[in-house]
Amino acid sequence: MTAAPVPAAALPAPVEPTAQLDADERPGLTEDPQWYRTAVFYEVLLRAFADSGDSGTGNLRGLIERLDYLQWLGVDCLWLPPFYPSPLRDGGYDVSDYISVAPEYGTMEDFHELMREAHARGMRIVIDLVMNHTSDQHPWFQSSRSNPDGPYGDFYVWTDDATRYQDARVIFVDTETSNWTFDPVRRQYFWHRFFSHQPDLNFENPAVREAMFDVVRFWCRVGVDGFRLDAVPYLFEAEGTSCENLPRTHEFLADLRAMVDAEFPGKVLIAEANQWPEDVVEYYGTEERPECHMCFHFPVMPRIYYALREQRARAVRDILADTPAIPAGAQWGTFLRNHDELTLEMVSTEERAAMYGWYAEDPRMRANVGIRRRLAPLLGNSRAELELAHALLLSLPGSPCLYYGDEIGMGDNIWLPDRDAVRTPMQWTPDRNAGFSTADPGKLYLPVVQSLINHYAAVNVEAQIAQKTSLLHWVRGILEVRRQHPVFGDGDFVPLPVDNDAVLAFTRSNARETVLCVTNMANTARSATVQLPDHAGYHLTDVFGGARFPAVRADGTLVLTLGSRDFFWLVVTRPEDTDAAPLLGLPAHVPPAPAEEDGAAGPDDAAGPGEPRQRPESYAVPTAGTGPRAPTLPGTPARGIPLSTPPRGVPLGTPPRGVPVGTPAAGLPLGDGAGAGGAGTPPAEVVDGGRGDDGRGDDGGPASARPGTAPTAETPESTP
Ligand code: NOJ
Repeated sequence: MTAAPVPAAALPAPVEPTAQLDADERPGLTEDPQWYRTAVFYEVLLRAFADSGDSGTGNLRGLIERLDYLQWLGVDCLWLPPFYPSPLRDGGYDVSDYISVAPEYGTMEDFHELMREAHARGMRIVIDLVMNHTSDQHPWFQSSRSNPDGPYGDFYVWTDDATRYQDARVIFVDTETSNWTFDPVRRQYFWHRFFSHQPDLNFENPAVREAMFDVVRFWCRVGVDGFRLDAVPYLFEAEGTSCENLPRTHEFLADLRAMVDAEFPGKVLIAEANQWPEDVVEYYGTEERPECHMCFHFPVMPRIYYALREQRARAVRDILADTPAIPAGAQWGTFLRNHDELTLEMVSTEERAAMYGWYAEDPRMRANVGIRRRLAPLLGNSRAELELAHALLLSLPGSPCLYYGDEIGMGDNIWLPDRDAVRTPMQWTPDRNAGFSTADPGKLYLPVVQSLINHYAAVNVEAQIAQKTSLLHWVRGILEVRRQHPVFGDGDFVPLPVDNDAVLAFTRSNARETVLCVTNMANTARSATVQLPDHAGYHLTDVFGGARFPAVRADGTLVLTLGSRDFFWLVVTRPEDTDAAPLLGLPAHVPPAPAEEDGAAGPDDAAGPGEPRQRPESYAVPTAGTGPRAPTLPGTPARGIPLSTPPRGVPLGTPPRGVPVGTPAAGLPLGDGAGAGGAGTPPAEVVDGGRGDDGRGDDGGPASARPGTAPTAETPESTP
C-alpha cells in the first residue's frame, strides 16, 4: 500500500506555541482558583450567535461584538462548542484539524482577541475538546486507512472481526445500527461510538495519547481557561464490557490532569459523561489522582422536567439522594438545555414514556433517545414554568450552564433535521435575519425561527431589553441575585422533609450563610410544612426583596403557602444576627411584616391588586462590596429606570386581561404578530408577561392528563 502524504497540520507534535496571554491582559478576572464553583456558564454556538457581516454564519468577530451583552447578562464563563475545521456533519464534533480555527469563523488572531476581550470583561472561556473521535476527513484517518503501516496506521480502532465489543450500545440509534463500519480503502472495519463518519481514536496507542496532550497544550498556550471533554466515557474499549467508563479511561484522564496541573495550573477540565451519578463521580478521580474539576450532572436535568409535569418533587429529590458526595474543590455542572437533544437515557423506561407523552407529542420532536426541543417551547412558553426551572437550576448543587437564546425564550424548528432544531440563529432584533446577519436570508446556515409563537419578531433581545418585565431581564436579575449568594455555588445541600409531595425544600449553607429554598412543582397553590429541626426559632428573609417571613417555629417546623409553580429563597439567620442585620430592601421606618402562619408577603410586595409580582424587579439588594459587575450595554436602561421611549412603536405594557394568548384579533392572519397586543404588535406576553398571564393553562388547566400522555405515566394531578 502506498503511503498517503500527511499534511503538516495533521502531525501530532510538535505544536508551535502561541503567545500566552499575560496576566496583565486579564484585568477583569479574579484570581480565585476555584472560580468554576460559583460561575454561571453560557454555551454559545459560534455558528449561531452573531455574524459580523453577511456570511450567513456566526463568527468570532460577531461574538466579540456581543460580549457586552453577555457581560450585561451576568455570565462568568463561555463554553464554545467545536469551532475547528470540520465537514460539519455533526455540528463540528467531527473535527478535521484540532489546532486551528475553521476559516468561516475567523482567524487565530480573532480567537486571541476573543480571549482578550472576554477576559477583560471578567469572563472566562472553555472550549470543547473532542478526544474520542475525529472526522473521517481528518488527515490522521486518511493516512490510517491508506497506510496501515505508516505513522497513523494504528491511530484508530481497526478489525477484521466486526463481532468484537458487542456489549457496547449504539448511541445514535436514529442513524447507526452498529459501532463498526467497513472501510473500503483499508478493507477493515473501524470502530465508532457515534456517526459512521466519526472514527474513534485508538487510545491504546501512546502516540494518540501524546497527540491529544499536544492539542491540550496548544489551546492552553492560546489562553483558554479549560476544556469540556466531549464523550469522555468512550476513550477505551475492552471485550466483555460496555466499553464505557473503563479503568484505562480513568488512568488516561488522571495523566491528562497531571500534565495540565504541572504545565498549565488553573486550567479546568469538565467531563461530558452522560452516565448515572455513581459512575460520573469516578470522573473526579481521587485525591492522589484527580481527573476532572467538574462533571455535568445529566440525570438531574430530565427530572426537573419530569417533576414539573408530574407535579411532584420526588424525581428531583430521589436523584439527588442517589448522587454521591464529590471531592472538595470539585463541582457539578447543571443545565436545562444544550445543543443536543434533551437526553432521556438516564431515566427509567416509564419515565421516558411519560416524558415523550408530555414533551414530544409529535414524533418529529424526538431524536435518538431524547427530545430535540428548546426550553421555552418545552415548557409551553409558560413564564411561571420558565422561572421555576431557572430557579431550580440556579439553586440546586452545581454550576449552571445556560444555553444561548434560552434567556429570551427562543423557540425551535422541528422541521430542521436532527439537532439543528435547537441550533438556529440567535434572535437579536425584529429586523432581517433577526439581527443575526446582514446576509441574504437564503444564505443563512439555518433559517431563523418564524413559528407562530416564538417568531423572532416577538422573541428577540432588543424587545426584551426594552421591556423591563421580560424574561431576559428576569434571568439577568436572578443571575445577579445568585452572584450575591456564593452559597448557591459552594454551599452544602441538605434536603428537608416536607409534608406535601409537590414541594421540594432544601437548604444551601456555607460558613457565611444558609439559604432555604422551597419550590412548588404543582400548577396549583400548595401549603406545606417544612421540617427545619436545626433552625428552630431562626428568622427568614426573602433573598429577592428583603421581606421578613415568619420565623421557624420553636418546634423546628415552618408552614409556607406557595402559589402555582412558586418558589422562595429565604436567608436563614439566628434571631440575634437578624436584629443586627438590615432588613434588606426595607426602608428603616417600615416595621417588619407581622409573623403569619403561612408566609404572607411582606410590605415590599407592592404589586397592585391583580398585578403579577415581578420578582427580579425587587432585586435591588444593597449588599455592600459584593454587588454585581455593572457593565453598560449600549441602549440599555439602568436597572430600575423605566423606559420612557418604547422602541420602534411597540407599545409597552400588558395587554388587557381576558384576551387569551394566541387568539388572533379578528381579521389578522396567524403568524403575523396576531396576539393580544393587536395588529402589528408581537405577542410579547408569551415571554414578557408576568405570572398570571403566562399561558400556563396549556397543560390542561388544573393538572389534567394531556393527550399523548403515556399510559404508564401517572396523572399529573397530585393534590395531597
Ligand atoms: C456529544 C456532543 O454534545 C454531541 O453534539 C456530539 O454529537 C457527540 N458528543 C459526538 O461528538
